[in-house]
Amino acid sequence: MGPGGMLAAMEFRETVRRRRMVRRFDPRAPLPFNTIRDLVELATHAPSAGFSQGWDYLALTEPVQTAAFWAATSEGDAPDRWLTGLMGAPALLLCLANPTAYLDRYAEPDKGWTDRSLEHWPIPYWDTDVAMGAMVMLLGAVDAGLGALFFGVPAPAHDRVKQSFGIPGDRRIVGVVAVGHPLPHPRSPSLRRGRRGVEEVLHAGRYGEAAPPTATVHAAPEE
Ligand SMILES: Cc1cc2nc3c(=O)[nH]c(=O)nc-3n(C[C@H](O)[C@H](O)[C@H](O)COP(=O)(O)O)c2cc1C
Repeated sequence: MGPGGMLAAMEFRETVRRRRMVRRFDPRAPLPFNTIRDLVELATHAPSAGFSQGWDYLALTEPVQTAAFWAATSEGDAPDRWLTGLMGAPALLLCLANPTAYLDRYAEPDKGWTDRSLEHWPIPYWDTDVAMGAMVMLLGAVDAGLGALFFGVPAPAHDRVKQSFGIPGDRRIVGVVAVGHPLPHPRSPSLRRGRRGVEEVLHAGRYGEAAPPTATVHAAPEE
């Protein structure tokens, strides 16, 4: 790896480690729409099963649009602290999955699932792929010096949100990425759970087996 590669690798590791979910945004700090376009452009480089790309991102960037989103997702209660902080985000990116794009793609001759059965999908790749796109946007926001939060739409609100913004009924709202300029915010109480370390989450060869401290990884048995 040349010096440029080393720098890029360090920046990537820094970006990943610096990313935190931001729940309080500066409502007076606007964003150029091009920043949103750039995040979505980055997300188009996420991987997708069969290169199906069954994703769409609906950007809400006008106060009237974000207000309509918050109205559609609220149950009429006054906004709590979490919501008040979040409502300062100038942009919301609704991350939408299109299952039909996958059923169509996988019915093509190179895949061959012409029965279009959902039983082929123990893990629905349409949701997986949109989550991968959302992750790219979260990291892209850090890279752009911004903050972002991925959050889900409450179950009763999915249809209301779809109706409010003309989202076709068969699309799935995998989540929403709020983007904006972060304000100081309290640490999430969830972080008190502590990060599960690599030794705990890495299993080697068999579930529950610890990884050796040093080892070489081979593709084929050694001669
Ligand atoms: C699928 C998913 C859904 C989440 N939903 C919410 C949410 O509704 N509200 C919220 O404040 N944070 C939400 N989070 C953020 C998590 O709480 C956060 O990622 C976790 O506590 C770790 O903190 P960090 O991302 O800052 O490292 C969500 C994260 C993911 C991946």
